[in-house]
Amino acid sequence: MKTEVITFANNKGGSGKTTTCSNVAYCLADKGKKVLMIDGDMQMNLSLSFLGEDEVLSLAQSDNNLYTAILSEKDMSDTIIRTPYENLDLVPSSMLMSGIEEELFKKGGREDVFEKVISEVRESGEYDYIVIDTPPTIGLWDRNVLHVTDHVVIPVEASPWGLFGLASMVSFIKEAEKKNPALGILGIVLTRVNVRKNYFRQTEEFLSDMKEIYVFDTVIRNDSMVEWAQDNSKPVTAYRRNARSAEEYRKLTDEILTRL
Ligand SMILES: Nc1ncnc2c1ncn2[C@@H]1O[C@H](COP(=O)(O)OP(=O)(O)OP(=O)(O)O)[C@@H](O)[C@H]1O
Ligand SMILES: [Mg+2]
Repeated sequence: MKTEVITFANNKGGSGKTTTCSNVAYCLADKGKKVLMIDGDMQMNLSLSFLGEDEVLSLAQSDNNLYTAILSEKDMSDTIIRTPYENLDLVPSSMLMSGIEEELFKKGGREDVFEKVISEVRESGEYDYIVIDTPPTIGLWDRNVLHVTDHVVIPVEASPWGLFGLASMVSFIKEAEKKNPALGILGIVLTRVNVRKNYFRQTEEFLSDMKEIYVFDTVIRNDSMVEWAQDNSKPVTAYRRNARSAEEYRKLTDEILTRL
C-alpha cells in the first residue's frame, strides 16, 4: 500500500492543529496502522505531546532532528525516534525551525528540499501514514510540506476569529495543487467547540456555504481533559480513553479513513 501523507494546516494560530494531529496519529496507530509523525513547527508541540520537556529539548539541540535533516538535505531516516506507543514514530522538531524560511531562501527558494528529505521513507512503504504538524504560517516551508502532501486537514477553531485567514489558506493550498496534483483538501474540522455559544452555529453555517470544501461531521468540543493530557505528555486518546474528546477524536479518525 502506498504511504499517504496527511498534513494538518491552518495559518490561524491556536486552531487545534497539533492537538488534532497528535490524536488522529495515535488513533491510527491504535488501529494497527504504522504511523510516522513529523513535527514541522518550531514550537515543538507535537513532540511535547508524546515526550517530556527534557527529552524534547535535548533532541532539538542534537544533530538529529527535522531541522538538521533539512539543512543538510539528507534522508531523514536517522532522525526517526520511537514513541512510547506501538506503531507510532516521530521526527522531532527544533526551535531552530524558526529560521527555516531564511535557510530555504538561501537554498534558492526551493520548494523541493523537504521532498528530498522525506522521499526515501515515503517510498519505502514502511509506514501506512505520515502525518505532519505545521506552524501557523504560509511561507516557503509550508509550500515544501504541501509539495509532499496528499491530503490536508484544516482544523478551524469555532471562535469569532476562527475563520479569519481561512480564505487565504485555501487559496494557498489551491496554488500548491498546481505543482502537486496529488494534493487535495480532505476537509475542515471544527475544534474547541462550545456548543452553547452562538458563534459555533455561525461558523457551521459559514462553512456549509463553502460548498467546495468538505466539513467533517465530527466536531471536537472543548474538553479540559485535553490540557490535562498535554500536561502529562500524552494525547488525550492515550491518557483518558473514555474522555468525551477521546471519543470524538476516534470518530474523526474513522471519518478521515472513510474519506481517504
Ligand atoms: N478539544 C480541545 N479542548 C480543550 N482545549 C483544546 C482542545 N483542542 C486544543 N485545545 C487547546 O487549545 C490550544 C491550541 O491548540 P493547538 O496547540 O492544538 O493549536 P495549534 O493550531 O496547533 O496552535 P499553533 O498555531 O500555535 O501551532 C492548546 O492550548 C490546546 O491545549
Ligand atoms: Mg501547533
